[in-house]
Amino acid sequence: MNAYKFLGFVSLWLLAAQTDAVYVRLSNMDMMKCSYGERGSLTATCVNATTHYFKSTPYRFDHLDETLRCVNCTLQTLESGSFDISGNQIRNLDLSRSLIKTIRQKAFVGLIFLERLILANNEIESIYPGTFIGVKKISYVNLENNTINILSADGFLELISLQELNLRNNHIANIATSAFNGLVKLKILDLSYNEISDVKGVFNNLTSLEVLDLSYNKISNLKGEEFENLTSLLEVRFNHNFITSIPAEEFFNMSALRRLDLSFNSINKIMAGSFWGLYALEDLDLSYNNIAEVPQKTMQSLHNLQHLNISNNVLSVFQTGLYSGLPQLRVLNFSNNAIEEVEVTGVFSMENLDTLDFSRNNITDVDYVTLISRLPKISYLNLEDNLLPCDLEKDMEQYFEEDNFKFILYRNMQGAVKCVDKPIVKQNKHRNLSRKDSLVAAEGASGGSSAAHIWIFTLITIILILIGALYYIQMRTYRELQSFSIKRTTSEVQLISSADLEARDNDYLKE
Ligand SMILES: *[C@@H]1O[C@H](CO)[C@@H](O)[C@H](O)[C@H]1NC(C)=O
Ligand SMILES: *[C@@H]1O[C@H](CO)[C@@H](O)[C@H](O)[C@H]1NC(C)=O
Ligand SMILES: *[C@@H]1O[C@H](CO)[C@@H](O)[C@H](O)[C@H]1NC(C)=O
Ligand SMILES: *[C@@H]1O[C@H](CO)[C@@H](O)[C@H](O)[C@H]1NC(C)=O
Ligand SMILES: *[C@@H]1O[C@H](CO)[C@@H](O)[C@H](O)[C@H]1NC(C)=O
Ligand SMILES: *[C@@H]1O[C@H](CO)[C@@H](O)[C@H](O)[C@H]1NC(C)=O
Ligand SMILES: *[C@@H]1O[C@H](CO)[C@@H](O)[C@H](O)[C@H]1NC(C)=O
Ligand SMILES: *[C@@H]1O[C@H](CO)[C@@H](O)[C@H](O)[C@H]1NC(C)=O
Ligand SMILES: *[C@@H]1O[C@H](CO)[C@@H](O)[C@H](O)[C@H]1NC(C)=O
Ligand SMILES: *[C@@H]1O[C@H](CO)[C@@H](O)[C@H](O)[C@H]1NC(C)=O
Repeated sequence: MNAYKFLGFVSLWLLAAQTDAVYVRLSNMDMMKCSYGERGSLTATCVNATTHYFKSTPYRFDHLDETLRCVNCTLQTLESGSFDISGNQIRNLDLSRSLIKTIRQKAFVGLIFLERLILANNEIESIYPGTFIGVKKISYVNLENNTINILSADGFLELISLQELNLRNNHIANIATSAFNGLVKLKILDLSYNEISDVKGVFNNLTSLEVLDLSYNKISNLKGEEFENLTSLLEVRFNHNFITSIPAEEFFNMSALRRLDLSFNSINKIMAGSFWGLYALEDLDLSYNNIAEVPQKTMQSLHNLQHLNISNNVLSVFQTGLYSGLPQLRVLNFSNNAIEEVEVTGVFSMENLDTLDFSRNNITDVDYVTLISRLPKISYLNLEDNLLPCDLEKDMEQYFEEDNFKFILYRNMQGAVKCVDKPIVKQNKHRNLSRKDSLVAAEGASGGSSAAHIWIFTLITIILILIGALYYIQMRTYRELQSFSIKRTTSEVQLISSADLEARDNDYLKE
């Protein structure tokens, strides 16, 4: 009989659990309760709880995929073993906005299924060593919006399965060298909105890291070698810091990196080698800095670069040759610099460039015939807010009449610099072709688009022939060198073998 009564009680209890909420009342804990949400929900919401409540509630949190969420809790100090509830199957623990200040050693012990831990929006000041003892399965920890100011040694040591760590918007100024020790699987590290100024040495062991966010910090000095071991990185954000220069080979080992954001810093110096080694880089954002010059060979390694944003700097010259060896480059943004001259240099064209933005510069004239001849795939060219001659628009419209190509010369807005009333100078001053060609091309420009087309084709053919000739000469030299070195090795082999023979003869004589 007793057993039947018990079963009846249990089924009633389950029914109650499914239809509504289960209220657990304890004499001195009237205000606290844990309950399930709507039918089928596996989220237990605990309201008004204190740190000792979880173990005293008859709740066992023993559903697979269980989530425990705290609302309006006042936890203050998370004591050791606060969640050491036998049989619990909690996988997600959300203790955000729970007024947590201190987390004691082994606070999470017993949560053997725990995978996601959310501690955002509390007042946590530090993560002490031993905090995460016993929780080996955690893959995600969110500590956003706390007041952590020091990351001390070994704070996360036990989190060997951790893949994502969010420390955004704390007060972190100091990071111990071994602060991230143990995080061998960490892929995403968000340290944005802190007060970090020095990162040297702290990332040494994070060899699996793929995303590193250091934006909105106080980094001013990059010294090289900070990121030597971060060979798996795909994305790095440094935007909104105070970086002034990029040392050569700073990112040398980031051979898988796809996105690098250095916008909103104070960079006034990049070296030729600043971006060497970044063979997989697709997006480089250097906007909102003080860059006055891009040295030769700066872009040399960037075989996969697609977008280069260098807008809002102080560049005064643009040279096609600096960017023409980049087969994937599609978008170049030079808006809002101080460019006065657009120079066509080098012999190669920018094969895949689709969008070129020169708006808000000080360009007074542009030899668009030569420029466009190096941009076979261009479909958008913005030249608005420059000091261009007023006739240019008509001229270009005529020239590109039959092309499906959008160019913007003047902004139709009140107050915007529109154009300068002066004749177009067709001097083609930066061409590296013969004077005859350049005269002919200029004629073509004014003489209607069909003639212009023919001349563009002629130009391209001449360039192709030149490239072919260069290639041929290079091949021949290479072959010659090769045959020379083969000869040399053979004669060396002969020398060695005759020396060997002599030595053997000598040994023979000695015996
Ligand atoms: C939680 O505490 C507040 C007062 O601090 C109270 O108004 C509220 O009813 C309590 N919630 C529950 C579910 O008891
Ligand atoms: C949490 O506290 C706020 C303010 O005290 C109250 O309005 C809200 O109803 C509480 N939430 C729950 C679930 O008790
Ligand atoms: C952190 O605080 C910001 C600003 O108050 C808020 O937008 C953001 O959602 C918070 N983060 C989390 C994880 O709650
Ligand atoms: C981290 O790297 C240092 C050397 O920089 C090494 O001594 C230490 O054992 C490493 N720690 C872990 C947990 O891999
Ligand atoms: C890179 O990692 C290895 C092994 O973890 C370590 O010995 C070395 O010191 C690290 N390099 C740097 C620059 O810290
Ligand atoms: C990183 O680059 C340095 C040279 O800058 C090299 O000596 C070192 O071996 C590289 N480390 C890794 C892990 O590739
Ligand atoms: C720079 O340009 C890229 C696309 O080319 C864009 O995604 C990025 O937001 C731009 N940067 C800024 C600071 O606007
Ligand atoms: C270039 O950058 C400027 C300012 O950062 C932006 O307003 C503009 O839309 C960008 N141009 C293109 C084509 O993306
Ligand atoms: C660009 O032109 C404007 C207007 O003529 C002038 O005020 C400004 O000083 C020029 N900037 C540079 C860097 O030459
Ligand atoms: C290109 O022009 C420069 C001077 O502007 C000259 O020194 C160089 O020889 C020219 N190259 C070719 C291939 O004509």
